[in-house]
Amino acid sequence: MFIKRVANIKSSEITDEKLYHSRREFIRAASIAAVSVAAGVAMPDGLLADSQDRWPKGKKGPYDTDEEVNTYKEITTYNNFYEFGTDKSDPSEYAQNFKTSPWKVSVEGEVKRPKVYNLEDLLKPYTMEDRIYRHRCVEGWSMVIPWHGFPMSALIYRLEPTSKAKYVEFTTLLDPSQMPGQSRSYLDWPYREALRMDEAMNPLAFVATGLYGKSLPNQNGAPLRSVIPWKYGFKCCKSIVRIRFVETQPLTTWNESAPNEYGFYSNVNPEVDHPRWSQKTERRIGEFFKRKTLMFNGYADQVAGLYSGMDLKKYF
Ligand code: MTE
Repeated sequence: MFIKRVANIKSSEITDEKLYHSRREFIRAASIAAVSVAAGVAMPDGLLADSQDRWPKGKKGPYDTDEEVNTYKEITTYNNFYEFGTDKSDPSEYAQNFKTSPWKVSVEGEVKRPKVYNLEDLLKPYTMEDRIYRHRCVEGWSMVIPWHGFPMSALIYRLEPTSKAKYVEFTTLLDPSQMPGQSRSYLDWPYREALRMDEAMNPLAFVATGLYGKSLPNQNGAPLRSVIPWKYGFKCCKSIVRIRFVETQPLTTWNESAPNEYGFYSNVNPEVDHPRWSQKTERRIGEFFKRKTLMFNGYADQVAGLYSGMDLKKYF
């Protein structure tokens, strides 16, 4: 995001991520193995955990991609969660003590029964499912993540927005005592994102409460976050405490901070470059070669109709 301008680029971003990690892990493994063999002791379990901890291959549900899923370690240590710092490794390091229970979610605005829900009551009616989605960041990296959660449409049906509701806005917790990044003013806190109602009702839009079949790690937005697979990652709002239905298009965090760089729609679109870099290709974390970015992140069949007749260069 724009803060990158001033940040130093880490060598892990220049070297291909997998080579970088595997080289480090190889050196580490080789030295531990050498010591272990010399000392006649068994290899520590944790050493092999990342390569073994792969989500089973293959498409299961109608919305899944059958591309290879990233490792649990990649998904949980390379994050954007500016409330915990701007480096990719900051969230996994600094979100460990973030308190996600008890948790309340306030439902407000153009809705029949505004209410503050305890998280357990909000989640109770839903059957959780796994969905393997492509995740594409505006910075040009991507992952494939097996989320665990339920369709956003199911939540919206139940909350019964009024006919005036045209957009739904999600807000992250504001608590600088727990989220050190919120004491700095690089974004206007709390983090806010929003969707047009028909986008939110699309069967691909998802509310995640977990990944890799486990509950959501703090760094990935515990205890609940939105997942919009055809949009750049910043449209997903982490650690949601407020869902508000509104009549007019809300101002969202990144759109407010740099309107020429981050539009309201933010659909993945290889034809519309970010003002400072191309969006034509992406680096899948764990791969060496860059791959071509797909329109709507590969979900055009399911979502292109939402934008028919719109100039996507103007409404980027
Ligand atoms: N939500 C909050 N509250 N704070 C953030 O900094 N970063 C966004 C999005 N949601 C962000 C957020 C960005 S830029 C991306 S790419 C995704 O979260 C990253 O999600 P991940 O860390 O689970 O991959």
